[in-house]
Amino acid sequence: MNAIDVRGLVKRFGDKTVVDHVTMSVAEGEIVGFLGPNGSGKTTTIRIMCGLLTPDEGEGTVLGFNIRTDSLRIKREVGYMTQKFSFYEDLTIGENLEFVARLYRLRPVEEYVARTLEELGLATRRNQLAGTLSGGWKQRLALAACIMH
Ligand SMILES: Nc1ncnc2c1ncn2[C@@H]1O[C@H](COP(=O)(O)OP(=O)(O)OP(=O)(O)O)[C@@H](O)[C@H]1O
Ligand SMILES: [Mg+2]
Repeated sequence: MNAIDVRGLVKRFGDKTVVDHVTMSVAEGEIVGFLGPNGSGKTTTIRIMCGLLTPDEGEGTVLGFNIRTDSLRIKREVGYMTQKFSFYEDLTIGENLEFVARLYRLRPVEEYVARTLEELGLATRRNQLAGTLSGGWKQRLALAACIMH
């Protein structure tokens, strides 16, 4: 089974076609770079594949789940690390991860948080407010949050 298997994806915003028949297969374990000029539709394509946006045309599966009908399952499995820091600056690292664990309904929360803090080398900073972290540490928190589940 391919991790990503999409065919003929089309997305229009108004009369502008921003994704125009995109077909892509990515094998499990494969690492892929998705390159193109600014505004060429990369983020829009990825939003479709993550189940965040419905395509106007096309079909396919991500992690074996149908992108049109199983978007909830896809969202539960996929980790998406954004470029812009999108966590709570007035919560600590630990509190941010607890929040994410609860959103994903992971149980027991404390076990998931402790393991993730350990794996990402964040344990000693658990009680530091996210807003006071340097850029690299913020990225590390963001990575922790998107792989925890
Ligand atoms: N929600 C939206 N409504 C209207 N137009 C949108 C919307 N989202 C994206 N667009 C337009 O779709 C086009 C593709 O945008 P997209 O963000 O997918 O490009 P990108 O390849 O990720 O660009 P970049 O390299 O700058 O990140 C752009 O012209 C953008 O203005
Ligand atoms: Mg983009």
